[in-house]
Amino acid sequence: MNSASSEVGTDRGTGTTQATTAPRHPPGPKGLPVIGYLLPFLKNPMEAVTQVAREYGGMARIPIRGKYLYLCSDPEMLKELLITHRTKYMKNIRYRHIQALVGQGLLLSEAAEWRRQRVITQPAFKPDTLDAQVGWMGEHTERFLDRWKAHADRGATFDVEPDFNRLAQLLSGRFLLGEPFADIADEFCDIAADVKKHWPAQPRNLIAAFMKPNPKKIALFDAAIERLDKCLLGFVQKHRATDYEGCGVLTRIVRTSREEGNLFDDKSLRDQLSTMFFAGHETSATGLCWIHWALSNHPAVRAKLNAEVATLGGRIPTAEDVHHLQYTQQVIEESLRLHSPIHAISRVAMEDNTVGGFFIPKGQTVVISMYAIHRQDRLYPDAERFDPDRFAPEEVARRHRFAYLPFAAGHRNCIGAAQAMIELKLIVARIAQRYVLTLDPTQKVDPAPGTTMYPRYGMRMKITHAPGQTNNSPAP
Ligand code: HEM
Repeated sequence: MNSASSEVGTDRGTGTTQATTAPRHPPGPKGLPVIGYLLPFLKNPMEAVTQVAREYGGMARIPIRGKYLYLCSDPEMLKELLITHRTKYMKNIRYRHIQALVGQGLLLSEAAEWRRQRVITQPAFKPDTLDAQVGWMGEHTERFLDRWKAHADRGATFDVEPDFNRLAQLLSGRFLLGEPFADIADEFCDIAADVKKHWPAQPRNLIAAFMKPNPKKIALFDAAIERLDKCLLGFVQKHRATDYEGCGVLTRIVRTSREEGNLFDDKSLRDQLSTMFFAGHETSATGLCWIHWALSNHPAVRAKLNAEVATLGGRIPTAEDVHHLQYTQQVIEESLRLHSPIHAISRVAMEDNTVGGFFIPKGQTVVISMYAIHRQDRLYPDAERFDPDRFAPEEVARRHRFAYLPFAAGHRNCIGAAQAMIELKLIVARIAQRYVLTLDPTQKVDPAPGTTMYPRYGMRMKITHAPGQTNNSPAP
């Protein structure tokens, strides 16, 4: 099946050299009248786009409710889109919920305003600044994992997702606001839980897809945002008195913005902190779920990771240790390939242009599905197989940079990528030193599209002590 229109070539969207110079419409499925390809999208958007990319190649055009979505999954075309033609595209920021949550922070701002913010925030993510955080991150993680001792004594089974979420929130809050975050941690994490609870669910059938949003749910969401604003602005105003001494990233961005002669006002600080908190914690938390799911399913990989971690001799990993955990890093990278917490991003064309010889009209949306890109056999042979050896340094050097995009790429790449990798390596290593997490055999596992790609039915795991760990928690 190939729906390329008459003025265009009918070859598949592989991006290979074409005889014709006229831009062509990409091939793609026809779908049903009126709704187009909506049904497969509602059923499972990640699998739907993966199938389209497999069938139609690196650039495909998918009809949905009278419009087209352009799906780009070829590394060279992705490079064109995200680097060469970057000024011709904007982020897709039409959704009121994301706007209300993160405002005009780094994630959603554009052009000169985005550049101004990136210059001011980037120094907080410099490698030596991040390394200096590993000490307190290790202590916080250790205290948190102490809570699991009693579970491990009993060999209990519990859903790890809420715990990973809370741990990631505590680390993110401490990173962004410093030690004083402890004063608002409980309130702030409860508000974050409320924001998540009232976030609109992705429609899964035709009726839901055409229904108007429920005003009661919107009101509850708005109330959570009001509490969030009050809490963050209250923190910012309270710590102004000390010029934000010891307030983590907040201190750095206030001081850098002052040095740049471009001081952030309270609303900008609120937007920046909310952006980084929400962009940074749920991604790490769902990442941790999928990493431990993969470890539970691949005993040989787990044994190799344990052997690497054993070289630390039981100490909480230091910054130097974290950088040396090569195999642990490969396990994480392979898990982020198959289960990228952000499964897709999109860009809107601001003018007519061509990518890989394919015509992208002004106003159209181009979808970049990490899920689909990372599951193409032409980029990753036997792509569905979990194999951390794909991320051995020589393998990475052989692969196209734009074949691996868990943190996106180009000028709008994830500012927190290095921070996230440090955090994930530290937590995965420390858990491996202390515990063994094994998937409950009755647990149904299904990746679901939400703000991140989360395990739809949770992730219940049995916890035991790692061999050689003392079972020394007090009786419950
Ligand atoms: C495993 C963890 C993470 C994943 C998978 C992830 C993924 C991503 C992706 C795919 C984007 C691009 C979004 C787009 O282009 O629409 C992004 C952007 C961003 N991320 Fe992350 N992220 C993670 C952790 C973090 C952390 C820890 C922080 C902050 C502390 C953070 C802050 C941001 C910000 C501010 C942006 C917008 C950057 C810009 O547009 O200049 N992320 N992230």
